[in-house]
Amino acid sequence: MSKLFETAQLKQLALNNRIVMAPMTRARTSQPGNIPNEMMADYYAQRASAGLIISEATQISDDSQGYSFTPGVYNDEHVAGWRPVTDKVKTQGAHFFCQLWHVGRVSHPVFQNGEQPIAPSALAPVETKVWIADDSGEGKMVDCVEPRAMLQADIDRVISDFAYAAKRAVEAGFDGVEIHGGNGYLIDQFLRTNSNHREDKYGGSRENRVRFLLQVVDAVSEVIGADKVGVRLAPFITFKDMNCPDIVPTILLASQQLQARDIAYLHLSEADWEDAPQIPEDFRIALRERFSNTIIVAGGYDQMRADEVLNKGYADLVAFGRPFVSNPDLVSRLANQQPLAELDPTTLFGGNEKGYTDYPNYQ
Ligand SMILES: Cc1cc2nc3c(=O)[nH]c(=O)nc-3n(C[C@H](O)[C@H](O)[C@H](O)COP(=O)(O)O)c2cc1C
Repeated sequence: MSKLFETAQLKQLALNNRIVMAPMTRARTSQPGNIPNEMMADYYAQRASAGLIISEATQISDDSQGYSFTPGVYNDEHVAGWRPVTDKVKTQGAHFFCQLWHVGRVSHPVFQNGEQPIAPSALAPVETKVWIADDSGEGKMVDCVEPRAMLQADIDRVISDFAYAAKRAVEAGFDGVEIHGGNGYLIDQFLRTNSNHREDKYGGSRENRVRFLLQVVDAVSEVIGADKVGVRLAPFITFKDMNCPDIVPTILLASQQLQARDIAYLHLSEADWEDAPQIPEDFRIALRERFSNTIIVAGGYDQMRADEVLNKGYADLVAFGRPFVSNPDLVSRLANQQPLAELDPTTLFGGNEKGYTDYPNYQ
């Protein structure tokens, strides 16, 4: 029997299995205001046979947005919108974390009242685009612009925005939050030497580059408890102009510091394109030595690869992204070795029920 179908403990939460639905932006909030809605409740509830669901990346403030129609979790309307979503998911048996993000330089003045986005340093990401839609829902990809380097006051404010959004997420019924520290967004921009040229206590050495992440984690933990906090990191990605030669040791240092804070989990966003290099085994061993709480892995997993990392003790839970888009009943399909449906890439972002809530269960 595959370990995937065993129950698992995530701090005080008892998970029905070791299968996680990975965070996936689907850009289907109600406008204006990026408000979660009933269609989103149906979408997540259809997939709630997963032991744990991590929500799509969710804004912590007005200036944290980089793509059209992604949800927020920082005002009363957002909280009221999320509440029926979390209720519906929880009646189906899954636990539910909210992924909190600030996109940093992966943004555009359209989302910033015409101002520049903020980032550790004034360095535009080369060949990086964001998706901007008009009121009719028609969207296009546009280049990111040069950001403004954050002042200490900006850093302090964003840290408190993360903490406030975490409080609101718990109020909205989430079991906890996942701090998005990967995929080239703000926290990741602080971690890497290519996007962080700061000369203050947030730049230069590894200790300095992990400081912002740790301050966010501390502020969020103080408000909701470290046992409700997960962190996503992406050691092997290079997209969004994030090729940093020092990222692996930086992330190993961060993982040690996160273990010391006793957070609920560390979530690795692994390289997931077709011919991506395999994650070296010595990295997995080094990570496990430093982080003994729950490790989640994601990125191109099928049941065989999942079993391998679970059996070797490199991970405790395995997240599936794209397979969950087109297979709402992914858990039972895996358990019963039924074929998986293909997803339609044209309906991933924005739009309506088509390609969102209309994928059928296995007949
Ligand atoms: C449509 C789509 C949207 C995504 N949005 C997010 C996101 O909001 N936050 C995040 O951390 N990762 C996001 N990802 C990455 C996934 O969480 C996951 O790491 C990736 O899809 C690899 O897993 P898979 O091979 O099982 O799909 C997204 C991926 C897809 C396909």
